[in-house]
Amino acid sequence: MYLTAEEEKTLEGEYGRSLQKAIEILVALGDIYGADRLIPVKSAQIAGVSYKTMGDAGLEWVSDLEGKVKIPSILNPAGMDITRWKEMGIDPVFAKKQQDIIEAYSKLGIQTKCTCTPYYLEGFDVKLDDHIAWSESSAVSYANSVIGARTNREGGPSALSAALVGKTANYGYHLDEMREPVIAVEVDCNLSGSDYGALGYVIGKTVGSRVPIFYMKNEPSKDEMKSLGAALAASGAVALYHIEGITPEAARNKFTKPDEIIPVERGQIDEVYETNRDILSSEIVTVGCPHCSPEELEKIALLVDGKKLQKEMWVCTAREVAERYPDLVQRIEKSGAKVVCDTCMVVSPATNKYVSITVNSGKALAYVPSMCKVAAKYASIEDCIKEAGVIDED
Ligand code: F3S
Repeated sequence: MYLTAEEEKTLEGEYGRSLQKAIEILVALGDIYGADRLIPVKSAQIAGVSYKTMGDAGLEWVSDLEGKVKIPSILNPAGMDITRWKEMGIDPVFAKKQQDIIEAYSKLGIQTKCTCTPYYLEGFDVKLDDHIAWSESSAVSYANSVIGARTNREGGPSALSAALVGKTANYGYHLDEMREPVIAVEVDCNLSGSDYGALGYVIGKTVGSRVPIFYMKNEPSKDEMKSLGAALAASGAVALYHIEGITPEAARNKFTKPDEIIPVERGQIDEVYETNRDILSSEIVTVGCPHCSPEELEKIALLVDGKKLQKEMWVCTAREVAERYPDLVQRIEKSGAKVVCDTCMVVSPATNKYVSITVNSGKALAYVPSMCKVAAKYASIEDCIKEAGVIDED
C-alpha cells in the first residue's frame, strides 16, 4: 500500500505511540483488503462505548491512548442515559465505569454525544460520495444507502484509528465496484411504517453481507429506510442497499438488475408480527431503534397526547435531538413515557431485568433476545403505544 512521507513517519512512531498504533491498524486492514492508499475521511463514529460490551479491557485500552482526533468524531450509544441513569435503575458501579469510558474518549477530543444517528447532528451532515469512517451498523447502512456516502462497517478500534489519523484505508465500500448490487429483492406488496423493519428482518438472513437492490411497490420515507437498513444489518450483515429509482446511487447509476432474485410476499412480513405472539402482555415497550428522528418524536407525541400510559415506555433518541425539541419531549413525557438519551434497549443493562419487551424495530427484535436475554415481540408504533396500556385523560 502506498504511504505518503508523512504517513511513513507516523508509522515509524515519530508522532507518538498512539498515532503509530492507529496507523498500524489502518495499514494492516488496508493490506488485508488490498487497499492502494489511505484516503481522508470527513467524520468518524466510534462503537464500543457501553461498559456492558466493552468491560474493563476496553476501558483500559481507550484510557491508554493519547493525542487528539483530527476530524469530527462522535460516540455510539452508551449503557445508560448520562443524566438519568438512576431513574433507569443502573447500578452505581456500572455508572462510574461508563462515565470513565466516556471521559477517556472525551480526552481524545471525541464529542461525547452518544448516538447511532449522527446524521441528525450538527457537524455530521454527510453528503453523497463523502468518505467517512462510521461503525454502528445502522448508521453505516443509513450513510451508505440513504445518503450515498461511503463507509465500511468499521469496528470500534478501526473507527477510532481513522479518527486519530483523519484517514482510512481505501477498500470495500469506498470503491465504486464494491457498491454495485449483486442480488435483487422484489417486494410484491405495499409497505408502511414498521413493515420496513420486518422486511429487513426477513431478508437480512438470506442476503448476508451482499449488496441488495430492492424493487418496491411504493416509496419509503427516510425513517422507513432507516428501519429497513438497521434490520438488514442486524439479521444479516448488510452495510449498503439500494432501492431502484429511490436511493441516491440507484437513481443516479441505473444499475443492471442482478440475476439472483428473492421474492417477498405480504405473508412473510406478517409473520414477523407473529413472533412471540404468546407474550400476551410485555412489561416494557421501547421505541427508537435506531434513535428517533424529530419526525418520529412528533408522531409519538401526537399518538400519546392526552393519554396516560400504564407501563414503562422508553423513547430513545439522541440528546442533541431531544434538546432541540423540548416541546416534543414534554408532550411525550406527560404521558408517562420516558425520552431516554445516550443509550438504547439493546446496549443498556437496564433492559436485562425484564422478562418480555415490545419493540417496533427489526434490529431490536434480532438483538434483544441474544444480548439482553429478554423475549421480544414486534409491533407497529401505534400497537406499541396500545401495548403500553393507554388511558384517555380527556
Ligand atoms: Fe441504535 Fe441501539 Fe438500535 S445503538 S440501532 S438504538 S440497537
